[in-house]
Amino acid sequence: MPDSRLGEAVPAGGVGDKGGAAGTGRAAAPVRTTDPFADDFLRDPFAYHAELREAGPVVWLERYGSWGMARYTEVHEALRDRQTYCSAAGVGLSDFRKQTPWRPPSLLLEADPPEHSRARKAVARALSPRTIAALRDEFAREADSLVSELLARGTVDGVTDIAEAFPLRVFPRAVGITQDCGEQLLAYGNMAFNAFGPRNHLQAESMAQAQPVGAWIAAHCTREALTPGGLGDRIYASADAGTVSGDEAALLVRSLLTAGVDTTVIGLGCALDCLARDPAQWQLLRQDPSLAGAAFEETLRYASPVQTFFRTTTREVEVGGVRIGAGGKVLLFLAAANRDPRRWPDPERFDITRRANGHVGFGYGIHACVGAAFARLEGEVLLRALARQVGSLEPAGQPVRRLNNTLSGFAALPLTLRPAGRRTQSTAIQTGEAVPVLAEEADDRG
Ligand code: HEM
Repeated sequence: MPDSRLGEAVPAGGVGDKGGAAGTGRAAAPVRTTDPFADDFLRDPFAYHAELREAGPVVWLERYGSWGMARYTEVHEALRDRQTYCSAAGVGLSDFRKQTPWRPPSLLLEADPPEHSRARKAVARALSPRTIAALRDEFAREADSLVSELLARGTVDGVTDIAEAFPLRVFPRAVGITQDCGEQLLAYGNMAFNAFGPRNHLQAESMAQAQPVGAWIAAHCTREALTPGGLGDRIYASADAGTVSGDEAALLVRSLLTAGVDTTVIGLGCALDCLARDPAQWQLLRQDPSLAGAAFEETLRYASPVQTFFRTTTREVEVGGVRIGAGGKVLLFLAAANRDPRRWPDPERFDITRRANGHVGFGYGIHACVGAAFARLEGEVLLRALARQVGSLEPAGQPVRRLNNTLSGFAALPLTLRPAGRRTQSTAIQTGEAVPVLAEEADDRG
């Protein structure tokens, strides 16, 4: 259960000694002994978020000597104000100015301008809207054929058979990796996202494979390993143009391999869980598959596959009357902000018709997810394929949560899928869909 030291406050001066806050006479910050990286917390983070949010605009997380923000306004502001809240000291608990990072830092995620701006330009150019749009037909075909295969089986695991299977069919090829590489990409993502947390058992377990998996990833970030025309190769085009070096291009490809798979796997799994547990929302999507993009967006708000990131303060800053000193680590609870009742009406309700725009599931500001369009495309085409072909989507057993220091989703998600009946012409016209075959009548066998 959530830590209940609500109302307890740090006496003025008390926090400053531990957390790098400076000055006296500031309002006290509520202290929390809650461990946001403990198994209990990670198993059901949302149960703890409300308490952290209500405690105040900023709390002191005693266990890690870190500040925490769980309300939308403050999280959004910290993401926006990159001059006060920097990323170059690491966006995990570890402070790169004091501890050696587990790998050379990311030129994007763990960098500040001007270095960040240069790197970001190279990756944004490689993942341009036109490039992503050109992937749509292929992704949609893959989604359709995957869903047909699954329907033939009936009961499947939503994680391995759908949420992992789909990105692993489309992502490596889009980046330019032709080898079978699912195991390596998933293992690498798992360790990278665990590494943002403390040195707990999750980090230790995932890091057991750091050497071979890290070597595999490094070998596949070279230009020679990437097929011409893929997203990785397009990053090397910036090296040709002289805007980044060859070594930098390799690290930028590494960013795609780190952040591009596990995140979407978790996001798709969460979408399946939300829809399977809420037949009314599933029916809404079935009736109007054009809601697929909105359903994925609402999943990102509601479930927040990426739950947290840290920032480090570069100067003293006052938040809600609490002075945070320079050099303080600040844990931003993106997931808590995405359900803050100050920002969202009925935030605990999964509602695919709501305007979920403005959620911070992809971050915000200069570090906002550079792969968002890619992830959105995957989410949209997969949910659309399910909505068109699947009549009923139902839980077939207890889901198993997957514990990770940063990501929140499922390790297993038993589901039963039954085919949709063929649609009548009038159904198709109402939903605005192009259907290849016109049937006599709708027959929902689900
Ligand atoms: C549902 C899927 C995804 C989610 C929820 C997600 C979430 C996020 C978040 C919250 C950030 C902000 C980090 C910060 O502010 O410190 C971020 C950054 C980033 N994401 Fe994603 N992401 C997803 C998919 C992807 C994909 C598919 C790619 C690559 C193809 C990708 C590549 C990146 C990179 C490279 C950054 C760093 C950007 C920068 O610092 O400028 N992500 N992502």
